Amino acid sequence: MANEGPALRQRLEEIRRRGVEAFGAVSTREELEAARVEFLGRSGLVSEAMSRLRGLPAEERPETGQAGNRVKRELESLLEARLSEISAAESGDTGTAPTDLTLPGRRRWTGSVHPVTRVIDEVCEIFREIGFTIAAGPEIESDWHNFTALNIPLDHPAADMHDTFYVDDGVLLRTHTSPVQVRVMLEHEPPVRVLVPGLAFRRDPWDASHAPAFEQIEGLAVDEGIDFVEFRAAIDFFVHSFFGPGTRTRFRPSYFPFTEPSAEVDVTCFLCDGSGCATCKNTGWVEIMGSGMVNPAVFESVGYDPERFTGYAFGMGPARIAMLRYRIPDIRMLYEGDIAFLGQFA
Ligand code: PHE
Repeated sequence: MANEGPALRQRLEEIRRRGVEAFGAVSTREELEAARVEFLGRSGLVSEAMSRLRGLPAEERPETGQAGNRVKRELESLLEARLSEISAAESGDTGTAPTDLTLPGRRRWTGSVHPVTRVIDEVCEIFREIGFTIAAGPEIESDWHNFTALNIPLDHPAADMHDTFYVDDGVLLRTHTSPVQVRVMLEHEPPVRVLVPGLAFRRDPWDASHAPAFEQIEGLAVDEGIDFVEFRAAIDFFVHSFFGPGTRTRFRPSYFPFTEPSAEVDVTCFLCDGSGCATCKNTGWVEIMGSGMVNPAVFESVGYDPERFTGYAFGMGPARIAMLRYRIPDIRMLYEGDIAFLGQFA
């Protein structure tokens, strides 16, 4: 009787081996159920072997009992695994798993166009209709292109260390897209009609109305005989196309070293239609760009004949325009990358 324990353990090991084999071989629920009954059923092979524990000498029982439990657990988890494999295989088979056509479809995540990009695209498209092409220039600029050639002396406050990110001596992150005017004119003879979307950088605080990196859209038109009337007509065309045909435009005298005369362009507030609201601070007008007739000094910087050519230039902030259009109260919301927020403008 002394070797009954080892004999039973050997028997359990044999059941384990055969069980693993049997569960591995099944391919349908029915076969799996049959294997379950054979090995793990009430009067299956494992139960039957375990019922023989009682006949063992007391000192043999614990070890043999543990061996039996291990076999049982192993076969049970194998059963579980095979069951989920078989279910998965079945669910791919529409013949046996009917499709519930009333379930809502799974939505594919497609992303959306950023509101600032949307404004830039629309502005470019509108100016394309009146003959403007797109140009680009480097974000890291020389102080000559960014300031000097645009008639901004280097001792002007805009060129100060406190207002500009200098990369190196005379090299900086452009503070506006206007240096691209200079680059385009150096490259091309008139007529020139370009729109320049791009980033600009200033040592501004990161607050509700400032970001140290922000988009601008520059416009430049140079030809023989361009006058203020053509300039106004182009801006009116843009304003009517972008903000709606009922929108009126106002030119307020201003100053930029590279335009003369200069003007800020305001449009009637498109939220309250000019009657006064929080967005227009009750004035009925919102400012959309700086602009003016190109200063002859700039033509001299780039080698254009100021006696022969005239032109106009403007610069707008598409983030500001997006904020007005979509009533976004804080510029930082545009740049924090919050998908839930940005997804609303899809
Ligand atoms: N560059 C100016 C700015 O950043 C805007 C501007 C562009 C004004 C072109 C006039 C003409 O403020």
